[in-house]
Amino acid sequence: MIGRLNHVAIAVPDLDAAASCYRDGLGAKVSAPEDFPEFGVTVVFVELENTKVELLAPLGDSSPIAGFLQRRGGGLHHLCYEVADIETARAQLLKQGFRILGDGPARPGAHGKPVLFLHPDGFDGTLIELEEA
Ligand code: CO
Repeated sequence: MIGRLNHVAIAVPDLDAAASCYRDGLGAKVSAPEDFPEFGVTVVFVELENTKVELLAPLGDSSPIAGFLQRRGGGLHHLCYEVADIETARAQLLKQGFRILGDGPARPGAHGKPVLFLHPDGFDGTLIELEEA
């Protein structure tokens, strides 16, 4: 079902500092910050040859990232795998008993393509994002 690793997402308390580590420390290409109020995050992408790293910082009071940082500190937040058809993937996963976060249809993610999130309980504590490629 899954294809390429689209990105690895890391929750960070200070987006500028984290972006600088990748840009100035590691010499990577880092995108400008973008706000996604519907997800409660501000995001930059570190662009690598074979994948991306998404740095996520909280945006707004009810950001899910704020809670994550409070509980666990900065660190790995989710892995995003590409799928050819998100609704087919959803139907197959639900049939197999996996939990999908939220109800409703897949909604556009940070790249404008439909995404859904699989509950970490099904994947040894790792939140999984699926993105239609
Ligand atoms: Co993501």
